[in-house]
Amino acid sequence: MNIANQALVIFGASGDLTYRKLIPAVFNLYVNRSLPEGYVVLGVSRTTFSDSEFRRKMEEGIRQFSLFPKAKAETINDFLSRVFYLSIQPDLSDDYNLLKDKLIELNEQFNLQHNYIFYLSTPPSLYPVIPKHLHSHGLTTEQKGFRRIIVEKPFGRDLQSARELNNTLLDFCNESQLYRIDHYLGKETVQNLLVTRFANGIYEPLWNRNYIRHVEVTAAESLGVEDRGGYYDHAGALRDMIQNHLLQVLSLVAMEAPSKITAEDIRYEKMKVFRSLRPFGKKELVHNVIRGQYTASNARGKHYPGYREEHGVNADSRTETYVAIKTFIDNWRWEGVPFYIRTGKRLPTRVSEIVIHFKPSPFPLFKREDLGAAGDNQLILRIHPDEGILLKTGMKVPGNGYEVKSVNMDFHYSELNNHYIPQAYERLILDCMNGDNTLFMDGKAVEATWEFVQPILDHWDNDKNAPLYGYPSGSWGPDNADELIEGKDNTWRYPCKNLADDGIYCEL
Ligand code: BG6
Repeated sequence: MNIANQALVIFGASGDLTYRKLIPAVFNLYVNRSLPEGYVVLGVSRTTFSDSEFRRKMEEGIRQFSLFPKAKAETINDFLSRVFYLSIQPDLSDDYNLLKDKLIELNEQFNLQHNYIFYLSTPPSLYPVIPKHLHSHGLTTEQKGFRRIIVEKPFGRDLQSARELNNTLLDFCNESQLYRIDHYLGKETVQNLLVTRFANGIYEPLWNRNYIRHVEVTAAESLGVEDRGGYYDHAGALRDMIQNHLLQVLSLVAMEAPSKITAEDIRYEKMKVFRSLRPFGKKELVHNVIRGQYTASNARGKHYPGYREEHGVNADSRTETYVAIKTFIDNWRWEGVPFYIRTGKRLPTRVSEIVIHFKPSPFPLFKREDLGAAGDNQLILRIHPDEGILLKTGMKVPGNGYEVKSVNMDFHYSELNNHYIPQAYERLILDCMNGDNTLFMDGKAVEATWEFVQPILDHWDNDKNAPLYGYPSGSWGPDNADELIEGKDNTWRYPCKNLADDGIYCEL
């Protein structure tokens, strides 16, 4: 595809995201020759850097986090020769004259055709401020070229602030200019959900309440909050992971087939799922939502501090680092099928995956003992690591009689030789450069997901007795999260780093 010449303007350029994700992603695009002939990156933030100081810092980021850490110095320098830096106060309207002048200069020098993407990688308090100033300086008006704005999460901190943010942004630009990013949607394996479901004839007939007993969506992390305690203590796992990433994944698992693979059709089907999520009443909340916070522990010869000891975290914080939810999608396809969603920090391993648990065969002809929990077939769609798909199925143990054993049929992305798998940010930035917003969230969907989590936030805010369970770092979260799962012998899957292994004891 021929991409128009353009500038990517990154606000918050001195921050971690730019260094770890954004510049490495654009560098990957450069190495893969996906960038247009005329392009520049302009980093903007408060810190004073010269172009060369900024480039030196970005070079470190490229060496550490791009997919080409061993690229030749010459290649990196060539790329960085198109990376510039401008120091402004993003809340001062007058400073946008400097930005405007800089863009005019770069535009002439590199024939950018007045096409600009503004990436807001700043603290959320600036999300309404920057577009306002861009607008008042004529930088959001699409007269000559295109003007797009990428907004990072968190998109609001509750339903009301998300609505306000949407309304404010729409004062300064159109919905079609807004690209609300959710990096999970940029992951190949998340996009593959649509292909698995709708490019194969065998899954879809089974993909409903008649054959599926329940569905699990897990995003486990072994790391703690690291150096993000200040942010995280005001967010918590529900806001940080569930309202966005995991509900997006859930919508792809549960949606109907779109009429076409277009942004509009896919967004329409996803929205129907969000609208069908069963709203939580106070009584259901108490039984169906469990939150936890990691506590200090010694695991594998190492000491892990508790959440409350982390830098930037309040010493008596009640912020959750773990959430497990049981919910239902009230529609024709999913009536009565529980969906279990869980996420947590300082769990035994870093894994994100979806597990579809099929109902057992109707009559137990064969011995069930070796079939696992309740003898169910599971389809596991692994998002990361060891990306792939695994089907657990029953097989006869060779020899006398009919002893049945659970075996794995698995496919690993790593087996696809010579296939380049782009990083999530790389894919999403390229899509925005192309003007394709399929993998970005629209404003109404963001509001709908906040609507779903809002009663949980209210409950935790208003009921000081709402339990917050401690769990030792390196464990799978509070024990009672297992009780959420319906059925006497059913538990969560305890995944390991390798897709085909499971078991409670994995690496931390
Ligand atoms: C981010 C959250 O959006 O996603 C982080 O703010 C979390 O807290 C991260 O660690 C997880 O992303 P991934 O791609 O590593 O699963």
